[in-house]
Amino acid sequence: MRLRELWRTTPFQLTLMHGVVFAIAVMALMGLIYQQTAGYLARQIDAIVVSEARNLTLGGAEHLPERVTQAVATDSRHIEYYGLFSAEGIWISGNVHTLPPTLPIDGVPREIHAKNLQPGARALVKRTPWGEVLFVGHDALVLTGLRTIIVNALLLSGGLILVLDLAAAAVLSLRPLRRIDDLRAASRAALKGELGVRLPVSRRRDEIDMLAGVANAMMDETERLLWEVKSVGDNVAHDLRTPLNRLRARLYRVHQETKLEGVDRLMIDQALAETDEMLTRFRALQRIGEIERRDRQAFFEPVRLQSILEHVIELHAPLAEDRGVTLVADITANAPEVSADPTLLFEAVSNLVDNALKFTPNGGKVTVRLSVREGGPRVEVTDNGPGVPADEREAVLQRFYRAKRTRTEPGSGLGLSIVTAIARMHHFTLSLDDARPGLSVALDCWPRGIEG
Ligand SMILES: Nc1ncnc2c1ncn2[C@@H]1O[C@H](COP(=O)(O)OP(=O)(O)OP(=O)(O)O)[C@@H](O)[C@H]1O
Ligand SMILES: [Mg+2]
Repeated sequence: MRLRELWRTTPFQLTLMHGVVFAIAVMALMGLIYQQTAGYLARQIDAIVVSEARNLTLGGAEHLPERVTQAVATDSRHIEYYGLFSAEGIWISGNVHTLPPTLPIDGVPREIHAKNLQPGARALVKRTPWGEVLFVGHDALVLTGLRTIIVNALLLSGGLILVLDLAAAAVLSLRPLRRIDDLRAASRAALKGELGVRLPVSRRRDEIDMLAGVANAMMDETERLLWEVKSVGDNVAHDLRTPLNRLRARLYRVHQETKLEGVDRLMIDQALAETDEMLTRFRALQRIGEIERRDRQAFFEPVRLQSILEHVIELHAPLAEDRGVTLVADITANAPEVSADPTLLFEAVSNLVDNALKFTPNGGKVTVRLSVREGGPRVEVTDNGPGVPADEREAVLQRFYRAKRTRTEPGSGLGLSIVTAIARMHHFTLSLDDARPGLSVALDCWPRGIEG
């Protein structure tokens, strides 16, 4: 996976491409050097062969066989070839006993391939003025040696370039890849609703930084707009509370001081109840805003979940009894402490128990459980009431949403939004599950980290 990512990075591919171009350039250069050197050496050998043949024939026909024999004898390195043949092609003297049939008798030196001769040797065949045929050759060990050297150098340098290039490409692409990882982690946090996160920008101001800068500017603007929207909501909630309170006080006075009867009284009572409902909603909305704005760490302290749960159960016991619901505690004693805001945690669990008691019919059972999971403690509130269908479990966490099945119960659909805000602020995970029958709401009380 990691390797595939490495391979796909621009620095890796660019470096690899440069490496290939470089290797081709090196090969071309070496080829050119070989070609030039080989040509030069061949010309030198040709000159030797031509002058040798000329020297031999210069002394005339007399003693030519002896001169040829002597030339063979003096060639201690065995790099020269001589052959003297009669006009009919019969061997007279020298270390070459048959005339190579491919060579024309024109005195021009050429490369020759024949057994008994070194590969690549160069030779000429010429006819002497008196009719005999003289063969003079010179081997080309230097040339074949040069070719071996060049081919070896090519293979070696090619391999070396390839290895070095791959290493360089890996090193060069690791760094940007690591930075992309950082960016990914930061963006994941942003996606989880952490409005304050920004992508890291390094001091190098390279193209990744430019992109991160643009993304950060966008995030700044998004955060600003979001706060604006939120503050409009909060302000509305705040500003309407005073006139609503005044309205409620008036209605209350009418209710207390007048002697209304029958339908009139009922209407006043209903108006009072509805005003109360509105006030509750505004209070809850303001509460969510408060939690979202709260400085995360300011009220954090080590919290014993056991005591919080016990407190919640104690407080809800009378209500449970009223509703004919059994409230059961299943609390492990060895749960570790968590770093949290105890007041908010209490509020969150209270909301969950509140829901469970509200939606579970008479005779039902609500269990408040504290268990220890691999990652840390888990608080679970389970009931055997109507539950929430799977396709509504996300929605009920949103403000004002109330599941279709249970809309007849009183409520404003803000309780779970408060729990969600509290969980998010702690980086805890809130999950809803089917309790078959009923609903089970779990709060995993360990910060999952931002990428989890
Ligand atoms: N234990 C539960 N059993 C069945 N449905 C539930 C349960 N808890 C929540 N729900 C569903 O989720 C919806 C949202 O819950 P939430 O607590 O946000 O609002 P509410 O309880 O209706 O009102 P509020 O809490 O603001 O008084 C509820 O209206 C209900 O439909
Ligand atoms: Mg509720």
